[in-house]
Amino acid sequence: MAIERTLSIIKPDATRRNLTGAINQRFEDKGLRIIAQKRVQLTLDQAQKFYAVHSERAFYDDLCQYMTSGPVVVQVLYGEDAVTANRLIMGATNPANADKDTIRKDFGESVEANSAHGSDSPENAAIEIAFFFSETEIVG
Ligand code: CMP
Repeated sequence: MAIERTLSIIKPDATRRNLTGAINQRFEDKGLRIIAQKRVQLTLDQAQKFYAVHSERAFYDDLCQYMTSGPVVVQVLYGEDAVTANRLIMGATNPANADKDTIRKDFGESVEANSAHGSDSPENAAIEIAFFFSETEIVG
């Protein structure tokens, strides 16, 4: 077991439906601590840079447009195996394939509007956290 940080984004489909609290409750119920959080409106440039790893994928332009379609809540989650724990809480990328009682199964509308993003490795978590937060904004 490793104590980790991971970056989470509550996506525009979820903020639009006022689901921030419901989603945060899932993290806290499973022992993850929200040690940084802010609600922001991403610019297209920010979305393109954040998702640059997907820039060759057919869904990239739509994804970047979607992520700027409304406010998002970016947050740092902290706890035991936080990267994997968050991915289990979120469920599969496509809500249609997600397990029951996961965020994406219960709240996701489509593979794009799937309510939450989470880092896929501790290495990417560090990069993604630094994209949105300075260390002084993270309070464990
Ligand atoms: P996320 O965890 O934010 O990382 C990349 C996002 O691309 C993913 O969640 C999905 O919301 C989105 N996406 C859109 N279309 C697809 C697709 N066909 N396959 C995978 N991800 C997709």
